[in-house]
Order: sequence, then structure tokens, then C-alpha cells
Amino acid sequence: MSADPAPAPRTRHPLLEARWPTAEEAARSRWFSPVRLGARVVATSRTWVPAMVPWRATEDGFVTEDVLDWYRRFARGRPGVIVVEATGIRDVPSGPLLRVGHDRFVPGLARLVEAVREASGGETRLFLQVLDFLSIRRRPTPEAYFGRFLAVSDDLRARTARGLGDVAWRTAPEADLRARLLAATRAEREAVLDARELEALDRGARERVTDMHLPHVRDLPLVLPGLFAEAAVRGRDAGFDGVELHFAHAYTLASFLSRTNARTDGYGTTLEGRLRLPLEVIAAVRARVADFALGVRFLGDEVIDGGTRVDEAARFAVAFARAGLDWLSISKGGKFEDAKVPRVGEAAYPYTGPSGLECMPTVYVPPPGPFSRNVPLAAAIRAAVRGAGFETPVVTAGGIATFDQAEGILARGEADVVAAARQSLADPDWFRKVREGRGASVRRCEFTNYCEGLDQRHLQVTCKLWDKAFDPADPSVKRSPDGRRRLVAPEDPAPS
Ligand SMILES: Cc1cc2nc3c(=O)[nH]c(=O)nc-3n(C[C@H](O)[C@H](O)[C@H](O)COP(=O)(O)O)c2cc1C
Ligand code: SF4
Repeated sequence: MSADPAPAPRTRHPLLEARWPTAEEAARSRWFSPVRLGARVVATSRTWVPAMVPWRATEDGFVTEDVLDWYRRFARGRPGVIVVEATGIRDVPSGPLLRVGHDRFVPGLARLVEAVREASGGETRLFLQVLDFLSIRRRPTPEAYFGRFLAVSDDLRARTARGLGDVAWRTAPEADLRARLLAATRAEREAVLDARELEALDRGARERVTDMHLPHVRDLPLVLPGLFAEAAVRGRDAGFDGVELHFAHAYTLASFLSRTNARTDGYGTTLEGRLRLPLEVIAAVRARVADFALGVRFLGDEVIDGGTRVDEAARFAVAFARAGLDWLSISKGGKFEDAKVPRVGEAAYPYTGPSGLECMPTVYVPPPGPFSRNVPLAAAIRAAVRGAGFETPVVTAGGIATFDQAEGILARGEADVVAAARQSLADPDWFRKVREGRGASVRRCEFTNYCEGLDQRHLQVTCKLWDKAFDPADPSVKRSPDGRRRLVAPEDPAPS
């Protein structure tokens, strides 16, 4: 009998050598040159902080002082654009995630706009990322699942009778049936429960856009265009420079675009069908905020079995460009389908599996490593968009943390804007330092995803490179509830 092969050792990719430009070279560079993003918005540079949820809103979705601190800190580095974290378009409880589903959220969002304007000296353009998501439940205890959540239908009774070999389960009292399934072995449960019920037991129930038996899912095409349009109007009223539609990762519109979308009501199956709701959303938003900057984030590759690949993503991009969007921001992966099994009491998280690793690649990803890993997707998409005659700017992100990477991407025409999420978290001043010829003092991201681990647990996101750097006796440093981590990066010791 042969033993299992030993797991392959993990390779840790070293950080790229960084050569930093002088202030003169930076001033002449492509990265620090302006870019137009729609009829009325010009960003002063092609530097961009993409959306990052920091888990700092109130439980009912309002902007807090901690949210303001988070965005002010990025704004002091004066990136061309900051995209505010994924913000929910519905007026429903969603935990400490920002919301824009009602007019009562507008004053807080307006304060956020003001804070960024002030901290960046008016230089940074601010976009609001807006999203819709379907429900996902925490993984239940078996007691809760069999005691309450499992729906007892005639069909379940028939499957129980068959699986356990006893017809009495067709008519037995419901409480007895629930107790019997709770006491069942794994093999018995697998013989009785269908795939969705097993998933609900093992991971927590998760809705799909294909759940046409659920009226609120069936009717998504009726409600989402209006909800997105109202969210965009509120974003404009709050003073944002534009709105980014979140059609990426594990959320509703990404699921409509997905090759796995088998809806048969005209909103799935074919490429045209999968594009139909996203295009209807864009049209509805445009109808309400005609001259407002409007972009989209979507996936260049879903990185799941049977998922969308870059060839189809390029066709989506051309359709979005034709629909008049002002930028196309390309992401990758981040899906529920391959997420890790959560612990009891926690919900599955879409950045924990192989597709999640492609979304936020670490130094441990397979060759060629995390650096500029997702640029080929943006490059292929940009080529298709240009080939179709559109000049829409394409934004790329993923493991970009040096000037030469960014400059090379722009010089080769692989993208028009170069974004950095984790490097900007590691050092929110880094764009400014590079521009001022002080690149040698950049605190460099190590790409090991401590921050993402906090995000997964819905804890306030910080960076391991600076969150312990404070004097515990200093009351002016704002900290996490356990007092152990500072919430914003220390100030640049040598600002210009
Ligand atoms: C803590 C954290 C939260 C994130 N939240 C969002 C989000 O709200 N919306 C989004 O489109 N991407 C989100 N992302 C993904 C980033 O925008 C970015 O695409 C990804 O981190 C890869 O870029 P990087 O290598 O520069 O970090 C998040 C990333 C991190 C680390
Ligand atoms: S915690 Fe790690 S991966 Fe995240 S920003 Fe800091 S150094 Fe980078």
C-alpha cells in the first residue's frame, strides 16, 4: 500500500526589488498623469485605492467617526481616486456594512465626501461602490438545523422513508421526524437530504439567483434597476464624484453575469441573457444620473468550475463600454462556490478558497506569484474594448506595489489606471511618497493577508505592519475594542 504523497512545500515568493523614482521622474511618469473618467471627472493621477471594506460602520449601516478616519487616512496620500467600500443599496439590516438604501444615509455619506475632500486638499476623486447581495446564513448547529431550519415537506418525508427504509416517516409527527434526523448518522443524512439541504447543514443556507421558487429572487430583475438607480442618486446627492457598480466577486450581479447562471426567464443561460439585467441596471442608473461618472467592477475570470473566463468577460466589457460606462475595473475570483467550510456559528466567506486567493493573492500563490498577477485579464479586456472602438479606461489591481510595476503596465498598454488595495493599507502615504521622490521610505506590504483574515471575521481591518505601533499609555490613539490594535496607520514622519 503506498502512502499519501507529502504535501508540496509552499513557496514564498520574495517581494519585488523596488526602484523608486526621483520627484522629477515621477512628475513625468504615466502613473502620475491625469485620466478622464467620464464627461465631468478628471483624476489628477492614475493612482487608485480600490474598494476595501474596513468594518467600521454602525450595525445599522451609518458612517461613523472611524469610517471618516479610515478614508481621511487614505486621502492624505492623495491618490487620484478612492473607491469607498461596497455599500448596500437596500434598506435592510446588513451588519456594520455601509448602506445607501434610504435618504437617511445621505448626511453621513456627505460628511465622508467632505472629509476626503479636506484631507486630500480637493485632489482625490471619490467614488462610492454600490452592491446588492443575496442572503447567506451562518452555519447552524445540527440541533438548530434539524430542530428549526429544515423545512418538513411531503418530499422530505418521502426521502426520509426511502433513505431510512421505513414508510412510517411519511406520516410520523414532525417532532419525531426532526429528532430522528438529528440522531441520524452522516450516511443516513446523506441518504435523506438533498444537495441544498446538506449545504445548509454543513455551511449555512445560501440563496442563488437561480432560486426561482423564491418570489424575491424571481423578481430581482424588477427591483434591482430601481434600487441601483436610487442609490446612485443618493451618492450624487451626498457629493460623490461618481458611483462604481459592484458586479464582481460573490454578489448578485456577478451571479447574473456568471456562466453558471441557468435562469430560464431571459436573464440567464446565454451570454446575452446573463448581460441583460446588468445592462438594465446601467440604463436605469444612467436615466436618473445622466451626467454622473459611472463605472463598474466585474470579474475577468471567476476561477470556479464552469465559471466565466476572460473571453466572455471581454465581451461583457465591450457591452459595458457601449452602454457608456466611464471605467471598467477588473477583479478576479472571490466566489462562494469554492469557499472554505465555515465553523459552526460563522458564515462562509468568498475569499477563503482558491478563487479568493486569486482575488487577493499572497506571496504563497503558485507561480508566477502575486505580483501583477491579474494584469493579463485587464490587458485582454482592454484590447477587446479598444478593438471595438471604445476608449473606456480599464483599471487593474492585484499584487501591485512598486512604481516600476505600475509604470510598466501603463507603458505596455495593459491598463489605463493602476490600483493598489493592500499596499495602500500598508502605507496610505505611499502614492505621495513616490511622487515626492521619497519612495525609499514606503512601508511595503508583505502580501500575507493578515488584513484579509480580519476582514473574514468582520473585525476592523488593520495592517500588521503598523497596528501594534503605539504607546499603550497614549489615549489619543484610537484602538480596536480589545485595545490591542490601532485603527489607522501612524502619520508620515516626514510629510512635505
Ligand atoms: C480588507 C479588504 C476588503 C476588500 N473589500 C472589497 C470591496 O468592498 N469591494 C471590492 O470590489 N473589492 C474589495 N477588496 C478587494 C480589493 O479591492 C483588491 O481587488 C484586492 O485586494 C487585490 O488588490 P491588491 O493586491 O492591491 O490588494 C477588498 C480587499 C481587502 C484586502
Ligand atoms: S496586513 Fe499584510 S497583506 Fe495586509 S496590508 Fe498589511 S502587510 Fe499587506
